[in-house]
Amino acid sequence: MSFKVHLLFAVALLLGGAAHAETYADVRSRVFQTYCLDCHSNPGAAAGLDLGVYSEVIASGVIEPKKPDESILYQKLEMGEMPKGGDPITAEELELVRDWITAGAPDAPPAAAMELKVVTPRFGPTSGKNTVELEGEFLTNVKDVFFGTEACTDVKVVNDKKVTCTAPKQRDAGLVAVKISDGSTDVELKNAYDYRLPLAATYESLRMNIFKPKCMRCHSGDKPEHGLDLSTYKDTMAHRRAVIKYNLKDSRIYKKTSKGEMPQGGPRLPKDEVAMIGNWINAGAPEK
Ligand code: HEC
Ligand code: HEC
Repeated sequence: MSFKVHLLFAVALLLGGAAHAETYADVRSRVFQTYCLDCHSNPGAAAGLDLGVYSEVIASGVIEPKKPDESILYQKLEMGEMPKGGDPITAEELELVRDWITAGAPDAPPAAAMELKVVTPRFGPTSGKNTVELEGEFLTNVKDVFFGTEACTDVKVVNDKKVTCTAPKQRDAGLVAVKISDGSTDVELKNAYDYRLPLAATYESLRMNIFKPKCMRCHSGDKPEHGLDLSTYKDTMAHRRAVIKYNLKDSRIYKKTSKGEMPQGGPRLPKDEVAMIGNWINAGAPEK
């Protein structure tokens, strides 16, 4: 073998070692099976030590998890006392046992942790029934999804990074946490989903769907633009020109949004939103 090939092997070993923590299964198949189980398995295990069963290995006390140098099993291997009467194990195999004990002598790899990163869309109607997509890591075992305290229906695991479900309905509008569960572990993403009132001809709905996201950064606070404060029903109606009940033609709020002059700096409101502002004024501009 050329030096280059040796180097490649070394790198591959290094990467292989770093990629996953050693487990009992690795140690059993690569060391105990080959060198030890002839004498150390029940019935009649030498020194009463059965290395073929994880719980027996741990119960025997020959391993001090995380402390290889204090583990009798490691000491015996290092001094070449075991395997009794046979060739010593290789340096690489000794290293494997050492790494395993240092890692706490685990039985199986630690379960990969579920992670929830994004919920799309970020908002939806309080009536629910829309499909939402959850993205994250290790989602394969997700069984339940909760929006606030309500359970999502039609939970489908698309792959380990994606789950879809149908948003449940919610009594109140507002932000809720989204929680996923695999039956034993829960993972929660706070304020992940915004329940909004459906677009309707009431001040409350228009505030939630249009005024707050698209107008209030200019039309609220200490000095609202042109004295128009859209943040409360009272303030909105107190402005003399903005909303004139049953009078679409003279209501500036309709005029400005239908012409595309507001929101200033754009983008234009979609047609259904302008139409709903019109319906609201024609209905006498009710609060709820
Ligand atoms: C040929 C049979 C034989 C083989 C193979 C063998 N052992 Fe042993 N082992 C013994 C006997 C016999 C004893 C008890 C007497 C002694 O300590 O020498 C013992 C004792 C031990 C002890 C001490 C147990 C205690 O409670 O003090 C450990 C640890 C151990 N063996 C580990 C191993 C490991 C690990 C291997 C494989 C790498 C191995 N043995 C291979 C026969 C064997
Ligand atoms: C970037 C800041 C900004 C945003 C966002 C904005 N406006 Fe305005 N608005 C203004 C300014 C500045 C004026 C005054 C100049 C004008 O009338 O063009 C104004 C004027 C108005 C007027 C006229 C008031 C009057 O006294 O005649 C209405 C009605 C209005 N805006 C409604 C809205 C609505 C509804 C939205 C959201 C859909 C909105 N604006 C978004 C800055 C903004």
